[in-house]
Amino acid sequence: MVIRNPEIFDLGQDQTKFWGDQGNRLDWFKPWDKVLEWNNPFAKWYAGGKLNAAYNCLDRHLNGARRNKAALIFEGELGDYRVLTYQDLHREVSRFANVLKSYGVEKGDRVTIYMPMIPETVIAMLACARIGAPHIVVFGGFSYEALKDRVLDAQSKVIITSDGSYRRGNIIPLKENVDQALKTVTCVEKVIVVQRTGQSVAMQEGRDIWYHEVVKNIPIVCPAEEMDADDMLFILYTSGTTGKPKGIVHSVGGYMVGVSTTHERVFDLKDEDVYWCTADVGWITGHSYLVYGPLANGATILLYEGAPDYPDKDRYWEIVEKYKVTILYTAPTAIRTFMKWGEKYPMGRDISSLRLLGSVGEPINPDAWMWYHKHIGKERCPIVDTWWQTETGMIMITPIPEVTPLKAGSCAVPFPGVKVGIVDHQGKPVEKGDSGYLVVREPWPAMLKTVYGDDKRYEDTYWGQYAGMYFTGDEAKWDEDGYFWVIGRVDDVINVSGHRIGTAEVEGALVDHPAVAEAACVGRTHAVKGQAVFAFVSLKEGVVVHDSLIAELKAHVVLKIGSLARPDDIFLTDELPKTRSGKIMRRLLKDIAEGRAMGDTSTLADASIVDLLKKNVNQKT
Ligand code: WT7
Repeated sequence: MVIRNPEIFDLGQDQTKFWGDQGNRLDWFKPWDKVLEWNNPFAKWYAGGKLNAAYNCLDRHLNGARRNKAALIFEGELGDYRVLTYQDLHREVSRFANVLKSYGVEKGDRVTIYMPMIPETVIAMLACARIGAPHIVVFGGFSYEALKDRVLDAQSKVIITSDGSYRRGNIIPLKENVDQALKTVTCVEKVIVVQRTGQSVAMQEGRDIWYHEVVKNIPIVCPAEEMDADDMLFILYTSGTTGKPKGIVHSVGGYMVGVSTTHERVFDLKDEDVYWCTADVGWITGHSYLVYGPLANGATILLYEGAPDYPDKDRYWEIVEKYKVTILYTAPTAIRTFMKWGEKYPMGRDISSLRLLGSVGEPINPDAWMWYHKHIGKERCPIVDTWWQTETGMIMITPIPEVTPLKAGSCAVPFPGVKVGIVDHQGKPVEKGDSGYLVVREPWPAMLKTVYGDDKRYEDTYWGQYAGMYFTGDEAKWDEDGYFWVIGRVDDVINVSGHRIGTAEVEGALVDHPAVAEAACVGRTHAVKGQAVFAFVSLKEGVVVHDSLIAELKAHVVLKIGSLARPDDIFLTDELPKTRSGKIMRRLLKDIAEGRAMGDTSTLADASIVDLLKKNVNQKT
């Protein structure tokens, strides 16, 4: 239950002033009446203001010298490259916005984007923003089933995709996946297909259209829609504790102020920087710190299509050398991979242009931090370890370069104007030196507006845990200097290579297989991925175990969700350990998966199961 107590959140004067001042960094068609209108837990930031995100990313940079500055440098996996200036990007976005309009896409209509990392993806996002059609970017690594769920939940009218996507020299058949996804879907009227790989694809008459054909004869002028600050900019699906991913809704005004402010300050942005964020646009990092934040700030962004080890393991450093990248923002899992490959790869390239490094997605272990500092930053570049979430929209806890002293493994302190805290299970603040649940104490501009179509889920999930606080789902420690150390998730979410995987989703996928009776998944520590999925599965009566059954079950998870959710281990067991009331004891399973000594087993219905499980897992691994 949420206790409504609006007073708690009347922002302090300093905060209102801070975020009010930051609001002025954007161009508004109409100024806001109030910095924050708070109807606990629903916020309207910059209430009454009118603006457009694409206008702020493009049009306002066209008056001066920035017009001819590189907005986007694209490096294809095969080594092809393209540079679009702000003027170029503005023209392509306007042109494509007109295409969308010509197919009846109006303000408020949802558009799904299922694409590789190519310029047309950024163009498509900004074209949607320009006409006020919320986009739903679905990561290209998701399966057609996962794509279908998202298209249906959002009731998308149009899908933008490409024929295929390059990955380590292979082709992922995106258009074919779209065709599969749409077999039983009726809401989608048009599929616009970008030609990237050139492989042959089936085009359905009346529904499917080639991008390169429709952009040919269409006007290049398209006025930007005047959006309320509180209107929806996009929906992005993320895993939660239930089997159904949540559509996280972000609104135009607060989000744009939040991401542009943090992007400029956290990355100490200079006009001449070449800024590279390696995240895929299918994740929030790609939205906030590859597209909206940097472009709102007039930065030059680098977009790389492919894998870090294609054609060789020095591909990232080759790119840094080629474009003289100055800021690199990546994830701990990537850093640990580079560590494994060895420093000879970065050593073989001139990466001296780098001046600032960033990390995001999961806790960075001090070893990886030191390696990043030494071999990439050459002990000269500050590292910003930034903590935030799909829901927060913007960086919340981070050092500010040259201002905050750094500690390897800590994401440091809250960003100005952000109030976070650590509380115990009753919601009371913990002392310095202690750990507890990480919460946000006051609204912040880029906060999620709601869960798409489900205000109640928004209230319950995020504001229902402790009255008047936003619950992050993370556990963290506060040290003597007030620095934050994020430990990890406390809910049933696994962080695999910086990607959130809901255990309930993987369990749902396993149970969907005809042989499976019950499944329980936990995260187990993994040297490179941070965590890996470990699944315990019991089979239906009479199912005969055959050699390829485990592989078949893994493939089924890939089909239902995508390869990112593929369990590393599947362990077959006759029964799962349950409490007397029938609840699966995940904590115990986690202990078993990690090979740890077990905690309290006194509530277990049948203690012998645990001994059996433990013995068998140990024998196997
Ligand atoms: C979860 C959010 C925000 C962009 C990418 C992930 C974990 C994120 C850090 C960090 C420790 C981190 C948290 C958080 N996380 N950044 N710097 N240190 N943990 O977004 O998929 O919404 O996942 O990622 O557990 O809750 P996301």
